[in-house]
Amino acid sequence: MKILSIESSCDETAAAIVEDGRNVLSSVVVSQVEEHKLYGGVVPEIASRRHAEAITEVVNETLEQASLTLNSLDAVAVTYAPGLIGALLVGVNFAKGLSYATGLPLIPVHHLRSHIAANYITNPELKPPFLCLVVSGGHSHIVAVEDYTKMKIIGKTRDDAAGEVFDKVARTMGMPYPGGINLDKVAENGDENAYVLPHPKVADAPYDFSFSGLKTAAINIIHNASQKGEQVNVENLSASFRKAVVDCLIDDFLKAAQDFGYKTLVIAGGVSANSLLRRRLEEECSNQGYTLYKPELKLCGDNGAMVGAQAYYEYLSGNTANLDLNAAATMSIEKG
Ligand code: KG4
Ligand code: ZN
Repeated sequence: MKILSIESSCDETAAAIVEDGRNVLSSVVVSQVEEHKLYGGVVPEIASRRHAEAITEVVNETLEQASLTLNSLDAVAVTYAPGLIGALLVGVNFAKGLSYATGLPLIPVHHLRSHIAANYITNPELKPPFLCLVVSGGHSHIVAVEDYTKMKIIGKTRDDAAGEVFDKVARTMGMPYPGGINLDKVAENGDENAYVLPHPKVADAPYDFSFSGLKTAAINIIHNASQKGEQVNVENLSASFRKAVVDCLIDDFLKAAQDFGYKTLVIAGGVSANSLLRRRLEEECSNQGYTLYKPELKLCGDNGAMVGAQAYYEYLSGNTANLDLNAAATMSIEKG
């Protein structure tokens, strides 16, 4: 089954054609990052407009790359939630137009479910059940993936998402948007024990995260130094901050794995590209007897291929939409 999938939830306009959920026939991602960089973060209004300009060409190129026409497709899929509402609506309306014109079924896909599904492309042997750490710019969840379309949130952040705090601390240190990837690179040359930072825990919720206090502690170090006319050591603070975030993520994730009896662990979302998170989890999993799956780096961030992967399983479970499909800025991964 060949699915044309569309993604426009944030600042990437993307499309792909994926066969049977695992085989990527073509994939095109157009990033708006250079423009949002000027403002230090994503400007929703600009994001929507750029999606509107780019989407037709992105879909055309996706068809061309696969040497396919609309006639040879079996369904159209689209990210409908969660995300920036104006940005999502561009993809949703384009997909509805395609479905209307061709008569192909329309498959609505939850953005975080698709991040998890990126792993089905990279790791063809991976099948549920497994426990997944989903860490992106907007979410930090520990999710029990009981089946392809049956998920349960075991833990989540009470305040900021992991990607969000990486971006904010990086920005305060003067790094360009998106800061997470830059901070990760700079941290490779720093001493992770140079700065002492808190490792916040949420009382009575052992699988929940709280990153805002940690973010504030790092930002205070930067501001205090600048008030005294001093500079922080950017490499050391990046390394110390990255270690603190990764410690919090791994502690809760491994505790959840042990308590709920999962042996197969998976990471997903933009922050799953973080080099320390990947290295540390590989070590811990091999020491403790877990099997770890990660998406390849190019599938960690937003892309259309992951939407096509999840869409296949949504379709098999009977999840298709009518032409009154709407986008939603928030939506639980459990509801899909
Ligand atoms: O999943 P994603 O592409 O978009 C959302 O759904 O939010 O995630 C983007 C987030 C950004 O906050 C970005 O800074 C972060 O992922 N990110 C990283 C790394 N690469 C991307 N954070 C830490 N280390 C990285 N290497
Ligand atoms: Zn994402």
